[in-house]
Amino acid sequence: MRILITAGPTREPIDAVRFISNRSSGKMGIAIAEAAVSAGHDVTLLLGPVMVHASLHDTMRVYRFGSSAELKQLLEAHFHDCDVLVMAAAVADYRMERAVEGKIKREGGADRDADLTLRLQPTPDLVAAVASTKRAEQKVVAFALEESAELEARAVAKMKRKGVDAVVANPLGTMDGEHVTAVWLLADGGREEPGRMTKPDFAAWLVGRLSGL
Ligand code: CTP
Repeated sequence: MRILITAGPTREPIDAVRFISNRSSGKMGIAIAEAAVSAGHDVTLLLGPVMVHASLHDTMRVYRFGSSAELKQLLEAHFHDCDVLVMAAAVADYRMERAVEGKIKREGGADRDADLTLRLQPTPDLVAAVASTKRAEQKVVAFALEESAELEARAVAKMKRKGVDAVVANPLGTMDGEHVTAVWLLADGGREEPGRMTKPDFAAWLVGRLSGL
């Protein structure tokens, strides 16, 4: 199978030197990409601004993105060539309405302690946009990071809203951690809970599930 995987956070520029981002380490998506190569799949990884600690399999194609706009362009370029998209990237929900040119300066004089307000606008929902263009044989998997209470109900609602085939639902603590306690939810009502696992172990388990979609 040709598997397209996104991983890591986005960085939404505020000005020439600052950005809005999140704590995603990219570890989950990178582990899925590695597990998919090990299982013999053809893998393309769209990777955000994270440190990569071990060398990646040299058979996988890797493209780097910074902002959600860059990730959107990469998805548009690569989605039609995949059988499954695994959208593990932590895409920012908001970005600046207009990024500031140059650097925002702290005003001098009497206004030095004045508040600064940033005007943000929602980013487009990238996975929903690609899912709406998918061919019948293509499958899309989203991730959902939710408060533990109502985790599954929220993840199922998200899966329907985004029009994807499956969701990996994780409690909030997963981001930036070494382990996952995920629930695998399918649009046809299927549900599996493999228990607490390391990210590489969960990645191998998940890659096995992708073939069955
Ligand atoms: N996602 C996306 N584009 C966005 C935001 C999120 O494609 N602008 C994708 C993520 O890659 C992930 C899934 O949507 O696969 C769920 O992301 P999450 O942030 O949990 O959901 P949101 O749609 O942002 O909903 P909410 O913030 O209300 O939980």
